[in-house]
Amino acid sequence: MIKRITGRKILLCISGGIAAYKIPSLVRLIKQAECETEIILTKSAQNFVAPMTLETLSGRKVRTDSDFDGSIPHIKLAHWADVLIVAPCTANTLAKIANGIADNLLTSTVIASSCPVVIFPAMNSQMYDSPAVQSNIKTLIERGIKVVQPSEGNLACGDSGKGRMPEPHEIMHEIFRALCVHDMNGKNVLVTAGPTHEYIDPVRYISNPSTGKMGAAMARSAWYRGADVKIIAGPVELDGYALDVIHVKSADDMLQAVKSNLSWADYVVKAAAVGDYRAKNISQRKIKREGTDTLTLELVQNPDIAAEVGRLKREGQILIGFAAETDNIAEHARAKISRKNLDYVLANDVSTENTGFAYDTNTLRLIPRDPLKHEEIFTGLKDDISFDIWSRLIAD
Ligand SMILES: Cc1cc2nc3c(=O)[nH]c(=O)nc-3n(C[C@H](O)[C@H](O)[C@H](O)COP(=O)(O)O)c2cc1C
Repeated sequence: MIKRITGRKILLCISGGIAAYKIPSLVRLIKQAECETEIILTKSAQNFVAPMTLETLSGRKVRTDSDFDGSIPHIKLAHWADVLIVAPCTANTLAKIANGIADNLLTSTVIASSCPVVIFPAMNSQMYDSPAVQSNIKTLIERGIKVVQPSEGNLACGDSGKGRMPEPHEIMHEIFRALCVHDMNGKNVLVTAGPTHEYIDPVRYISNPSTGKMGAAMARSAWYRGADVKIIAGPVELDGYALDVIHVKSADDMLQAVKSNLSWADYVVKAAAVGDYRAKNISQRKIKREGTDTLTLELVQNPDIAAEVGRLKREGQILIGFAAETDNIAEHARAKISRKNLDYVLANDVSTENTGFAYDTNTLRLIPRDPLKHEEIFTGLKDDISFDIWSRLIAD
């Protein structure tokens, strides 16, 4: 969870859809992010989530139509908010917002607001696909309002299809994005992340402890800042919400995927821990232990993806490599820059505590190729330092 939005003011508007049951979890995440929150419930929403639940979790009185009085709460709340979220947004509330109808506290506040508005329609898939709903969504998008497409899956009504509200942590991603300055708009970012699996037989492989967290954090931060992001990920669980995730297994697969997407990218971030070696011969059958006390594997070098990208790199593309080292960090990192034609290396000492593989925190030393550019140390949560690294890369 990035700390950057601490203290920001989130106005959460809840209308009467079944997905409102997810909102208490969202309120908890907003509190964990140390943001302020005000909540508006429509009359119908109170059938799905109790005001007392939300008041307990948010620590604030929830606003309903009974507060819609001479104190002009809709104007005050609209001025107060840094971002306004409508989640879930019913077909009914969507229609009202699209048509400028302001007959309750929620819709009046939306129409009075000038901050970014993010709408999460959630409903039965037939309702969602209806011409009326689609036309209202189109109207809102044309007005510059962000309408987040519902996801597909099993719906509460028993149907299956498009209409599910994103999960609370996914809504948080949209909130972060709405609150960020989109200074990477129009930029294409290609990130590699995670380990590779180099199989020796059908059930065993050589790998490393990379979790893909650093690559995922770099990808997510760029997306928050408005970039289009593709992430080529080794076999690891990643939160790929709204990112274009390309799954690969081996170093060879990763190289092919990188090459296919290279011309698209303005920035290439090589955060994957690619295996340096693979088995010379992959056994087609499971290797049996019976009858052999020792096993000798013959390994051959994998292709060097960073070097290949460095060779193919076009004018204007920025290539950022990572160097996980245990000794002579800066020396090894600089050698890597010239050997692989990188623009930057982010070097870390994986022999120290709380840094590198699997940790949520990291300490990275940014070493630029250009000697006129300064080196910089980034330390902290991977989510946070990724954001700072992008600030630096954009400024350079
Ligand atoms: C059990 C139940 C579940 C409902 N779920 C949804 C829903 O998921 N999405 C939706 O658009 N409407 C749903 N509705 C219909 C809305 O509650 C209804 O249109 C209501 O007028 C919305 O009011 P509001 O937009 O002011 O909150 C549901 C109704 C019921 C009775």
